[in-house]
Amino acid sequence: MMRRSLIDLDDLSDGELIQVLDRAAEFKAHAPAMLLKGSACANLFFEPSTRTNASFQLAQQRLGAHIINLEPERASLATKGESLEDTVITLAAMGINVLVVRHSEAGIPARLSGAFKGHVVNAGDGTNAHPTQALLDLRTLLDFFSALNGRHIVIVGDVLHSRVAHSTMRGALRLGARITLVGPEEFLPEEYRATAVTLERDLDGVLATSDAVILLRVQRERFESMPLDDETYRQRYQLSAARLAKLPTHAIIMHPGPYNRGIELTDEVLTHPGWRYTEQIANGVAVRMAVLDFLVNGTPSC
Ligand code: CP
Repeated sequence: MMRRSLIDLDDLSDGELIQVLDRAAEFKAHAPAMLLKGSACANLFFEPSTRTNASFQLAQQRLGAHIINLEPERASLATKGESLEDTVITLAAMGINVLVVRHSEAGIPARLSGAFKGHVVNAGDGTNAHPTQALLDLRTLLDFFSALNGRHIVIVGDVLHSRVAHSTMRGALRLGARITLVGPEEFLPEEYRATAVTLERDLDGVLATSDAVILLRVQRERFESMPLDDETYRQRYQLSAARLAKLPTHAIIMHPGPYNRGIELTDEVLTHPGWRYTEQIANGVAVRMAVLDFLVNGTPSC
């Protein structure tokens, strides 16, 4: 069988994308069998994570895998000169067949998929991609809308530094959604107009036609200094009570987390009936089980 990895959503055909999303819904409805019994997963998080790390571990446990959580700062590559490639060759030699990798540098999971004799799952690489977050976002949207054809999804904030935005918008476009990106020039350069999305600077102008709003955190760890002051950002892009009132009643609001209260959203968002954050988190476990099953076992075994 071909050794498959998930570096970004492009690694899945349209049929496979639907298959994984459907499988995640099945896993949510009925606890899956021990589909990874005999597999061993190593989680390598070179960058902090709460949601992705915890949900990958839960997904692996629920599927019956052996789990190794390698702490990069305590591994031999940190102080003994071992390269990343030699580290993953070593892990494969002891029978680990799935590697979940998060790294601050774009391209590291793709690079390691060349050296590792097993399946690599990108758990977020720099500003590049976060495919399992995209899948859980799509699962959450589909839970609510059933189909995304023609649905208007508005993504707000620091698009430039957001691997989530880059992966989720590509997935949503493949499922037929219409995407509008909203943000200041500093976080949403004009070059994005050349892509298959609409670019807007004025959040208030797009809220009334939104089916879903995806808020992004300002990713301060990925740039030197905030290019515009917090108060200007809040005035122009914060989802507040006044802006919630402009949304259609059916609209939902999502956030990949972690969210920063008082910056991209106010507390009123967290109690709005359209707020779907906890559904996203729950879908994260189901989607990651579906991805692991797909990579290791191939076509679903029911
Ligand atoms: N959404 C997300 O990737 O969160 P973590 O950084 O906590 O994993």
